[in-house]
Amino acid sequence: GHPGHLASEAGRALALVNLRDAETAARQRLDPVYYDYFAGGAQDEVTVAANEAAYRRRSLLPRVLRGCGPPRLETTLLGQATSMPVLMAPTAFHRLAWPEAEVATARAAAAADVVMIAAMLSTVTVEEIAATGAALWFQLYIQPDLAFTESLVRRAEAAGCRALVVTVDSPALGRNERGDRNDFHDLPPGVFCANMGGAGHVRQVVLSPEISWSHVDWLRGITTLPILLKGVLHPADARLAVEHGVDGLVVSNHGGRQLDTTPASLDRLEPVAEAVAGRVPLLLDGGVRRGTDVAKALALGAAAVAIGRPVLWGLAIAGEPGVRRVLDLLRTELANALTLLGVAAPGDLTREQVVS
Ligand code: FNR
Repeated sequence: GHPGHLASEAGRALALVNLRDAETAARQRLDPVYYDYFAGGAQDEVTVAANEAAYRRRSLLPRVLRGCGPPRLETTLLGQATSMPVLMAPTAFHRLAWPEAEVATARAAAAADVVMIAAMLSTVTVEEIAATGAALWFQLYIQPDLAFTESLVRRAEAAGCRALVVTVDSPALGRNERGDRNDFHDLPPGVFCANMGGAGHVRQVVLSPEISWSHVDWLRGITTLPILLKGVLHPADARLAVEHGVDGLVVSNHGGRQLDTTPASLDRLEPVAEAVAGRVPLLLDGGVRRGTDVAKALALGAAAVAIGRPVLWGLAIAGEPGVRRVLDLLRTELANALTLLGVAAPGDLTREQVVS
């Protein structure tokens, strides 16, 4: 195309050929400090690299001549219909990427008919995000002030969020050294945690090492929404989660941003799946960049995956159309992968179609 074409948001979005291009293009547009915040992980970023590497280590084994026709990607998760088994992972501070912030992201989710897991640390309120009509789940860091935590739950419920995703891998903040080098410790003027506000005062977010299973029990007692725990890697914790009445798990290492040198999330999927033995659905996030990655995760036991950074890259490039493009590319890749694998739907993938 001619250069003028690339000047518009739609043009920039359409110029993306895959999710890796999106990172490159976003890097060119973003303030380097914010790029580092989005891209970075904890310490040596061993886990960031491991997440993607785990997909490359595995191979896909196609079946032939099955006459499946075009695959159908529609999926139902905890009663929630979605156009494909891909959700938006919760990520903080979208206003660092684009002025319309989470509203633009949510419009793209609505257009693509996928679930957005809205972060508690969003830069517009959950009510404003919900007003886009997107199907939302609400991500929560349980705050030691339980009255405040309950008020967030009530707001999420009232806004129409259909599940709570409680992040449990963050009893403290991971050490992002890019942020230290960039001296990025405070949000710029005009960017703040909109859900934490009230009467001109923005509350400090508390990531507390005091949070325990008793808090999960408390939460279970105050809401009828499905509860998922995000950030479970150990099979014993997966078993405990089921015992505590949790409805789903997100196998995740927080995109390598919390404890560095945790295993690739994909490598923890099968042990966790074995522990829960089908009692609750499993989601997986971390390093999903290709339709073939989604296929591998599904074949190894995930009901769906979530993507974090690729959504931020699309947002930084072109706002809503940029995020839509990221989702469209992944959808097209997944459909193509399933066709080439010889399966008619995500649920038809089987374990033996992934080999090491
Ligand atoms: C995150 N993630 C995250 N998770 C969460 O539970 N609450 C949060 O506020 C955030 N914030 C956040 C910010 C940024 C910039 C990133 C990149 C990630 C983690 C996120 O939900 C998810 O686990 C990972 O992003 C998945 O890995 P990929 O897809 O980014 O590789």
